[in-house]
Amino acid sequence: MKTIKIALDGPSGSGKSTIAKILSAKLDILYLDTGAMYRATALKALKLGVDTFDEKGVLGFINDLKLEIKYENGKQQTYLDGENVSDKIREPQVSMAASNISSLKCVRLKMVEMQRKISETTSCVLDGRDIGSYVLPNADYKFYITAGVNVRAERRFKELTEKGYNVDFDSLKKEIEERDYNDSHREFSPLVKAKDAIEIDTSNMTVEQVISTIMSHIKE
Ligand code: DC
Repeated sequence: MKTIKIALDGPSGSGKSTIAKILSAKLDILYLDTGAMYRATALKALKLGVDTFDEKGVLGFINDLKLEIKYENGKQQTYLDGENVSDKIREPQVSMAASNISSLKCVRLKMVEMQRKISETTSCVLDGRDIGSYVLPNADYKFYITAGVNVRAERRFKELTEKGYNVDFDSLKKEIEERDYNDSHREFSPLVKAKDAIEIDTSNMTVEQVISTIMSHIKE
């Protein structure tokens, strides 16, 4: 049976995961949040006290990393060393560590291998930074979801404060800008808009408008 692969790439806070969740439910296909995998790897480094830029240190654990992606009640759950870390990996200090560790080639190769394997036999929506440009260059549909930095910082601020985190807007915005820079300037498989991706700037769009724009392309 033919499977369908949809790549949603874009910078932090552009709304990819919200869109990917709704889209995958609408199409009744899997949603793979690839950022969760980088976050779990960063969490492992933090637990071990390994510097997230230290390739040698990371090489010491990456090949034996016990990272599992499971689907429970249709929701992705991320397990690290047998522990469900789906909430822990969302903590603000993990975000920057994930961005840092994702610049290491050994990490990316390992994650990409897992992502290709998971998506090999299943229809899915994958959200990330390099899905359309590197992980699945033959994806059926590629979208590049973006938004202005202020809008993205506001969205992240709202999300974190609703979860009870005490965050400062200016530092959050600064962190997003730093992650943008990191993610788009790393040497190996950086954040880029794939040549054949459709760009959607969500700054002034509602979630429903974004979904219907994407669906209109998919129906074509
Ligand atoms: O999407 P996110 O914020 O959960 O991702 C966390 C970090 O992981 C992000 O700053 C960059 C990295 N990442 C990546 O390099 N490639 C991906 N496909 C997904 C995430």
